[in-house]
Amino acid sequence: MGHDTGSTAKTVDAHAIVFEGQYAICDDYAQKDEILAKLHDAFHSGVEAIAGIEARRALERDGLRSLHKHLPPAKVALLEAFVNKRVRDDLYCWAYAVGHETIGLPDPFYVDLLIVLRIHYPHIVARDGGKAERPPYDWRDRARMVAAGMRNPAIFLNQLTRRIRKRSKIREHRIAYDGTSFHGDLPTLARSHAAHVDTWYGHSYDGFNVWLSIDGVNKDNTVILYPELFGHKVDFDPKSMYLRPGIQLPKPTKIELEPGQLLLFNPEMLHGTQVNISDDTRVALTLRINPNVPRFNDDAPFNAEHWYSSVDIAKRRFTRMSLFPANRYHGQPTVGQEPVKPDTRTHFISLSDAGSPGVDVVLAQSSALKKGEKLAVDAPDLKLVLVRTPQGVRAYDRRCPHRAVDVIDGAHDDAEIFCPGHGIAFALADGHSSCAAFKLRAFDVFESDGKIILRRARAANEAEAPPAAAA
Ligand SMILES: [Fe+2]
Repeated sequence: MGHDTGSTAKTVDAHAIVFEGQYAICDDYAQKDEILAKLHDAFHSGVEAIAGIEARRALERDGLRSLHKHLPPAKVALLEAFVNKRVRDDLYCWAYAVGHETIGLPDPFYVDLLIVLRIHYPHIVARDGGKAERPPYDWRDRARMVAAGMRNPAIFLNQLTRRIRKRSKIREHRIAYDGTSFHGDLPTLARSHAAHVDTWYGHSYDGFNVWLSIDGVNKDNTVILYPELFGHKVDFDPKSMYLRPGIQLPKPTKIELEPGQLLLFNPEMLHGTQVNISDDTRVALTLRINPNVPRFNDDAPFNAEHWYSSVDIAKRRFTRMSLFPANRYHGQPTVGQEPVKPDTRTHFISLSDAGSPGVDVVLAQSSALKKGEKLAVDAPDLKLVLVRTPQGVRAYDRRCPHRAVDVIDGAHDDAEIFCPGHGIAFALADGHSSCAAFKLRAFDVFESDGKIILRRARAANEAEAPPAAAA
């Protein structure tokens, strides 16, 4: 499956993005300087309104990537609301220009009403940042919705019938989504998307994710794509709505974007977010453009049913919304559904007994673990991943210290294994990542007489020996 990087063309290959799993990184796109200037101004004004003129000056000096140093995490939702309110209509107009000029779409095409600012503080700052302050109610937005409903009463009616429809699907267990099942009690600001496909949540088929890097995007906090899996059948866990465990992922493609660069991809491509283990705040925004009438999976917990047609945006008619109820605008994936090939370099062993504390136990024959491969060992109280490094065999707890995702589904190379959840790279040599808070727990293993042996620590809850001792 091919993919494209670094396209600077004024017009991208729309067909290749929607149907062939390509993505484009655009340096040159419609109204670039104008929209970036408006966004920066909105951020600066918002910080001044919320945190004062000194905070604004500091932000202007250090850049938006330093936002976490000048605005407490609890106030980020207020800033998002401020920026959204100030530039929302400009963003619709910009999306129209991008759809028209950069993607080359003829009228009518559609822009999702939902625009999401993606402010990601460094994970530890966000995690410890406490409860978010709620922004004031957006009366202007409500008034606009009422005006749209007066013009088209189906909008009101659909809000009611959709609620009834979704409730009955929850009762019939066709919808089982529970946001806390995966993220636990992490504050919203510290939550980041594991691998997923947007139509699982109820976004439209055959469209464009428009992902704008505003500032602070780097390889340790960026969007992760899996272009190799485009057109393959990937399935989700119905509670988390993220990729179901047991699907072996290719190496994550971490999209590094300069400030102001624009990424376009089909949200049917499996993607996620690298948990922000960098020192910068990631400031990005996403919106969606559909070349045709949007169609949905009605068994999703939400559906993005309200859109602006390009014709209405061109005339700035923002009280004319196009409604596409998911029960009538049904869709299916239009790209292939080939099964994902299992990774031949990952092997599985299951043991009925893995010994007890203080006792050595044979995990596998040495021949079961070749250089460049990885071995999953499952026992009643253990889930280990074993790899062979130049310094000897290493064994790690498979639960990622971030959200306990099983790292065995992640790709590995000679040096690292990548968490299939949020892309953290752990060194095979010692389990470290580039963030001190996230390290795979190492177990003490050694080889003797053609066998790989686990030396269990004496106390069940005691940390096992570091890899240096196992060499
Ligand atoms: Fe997404």
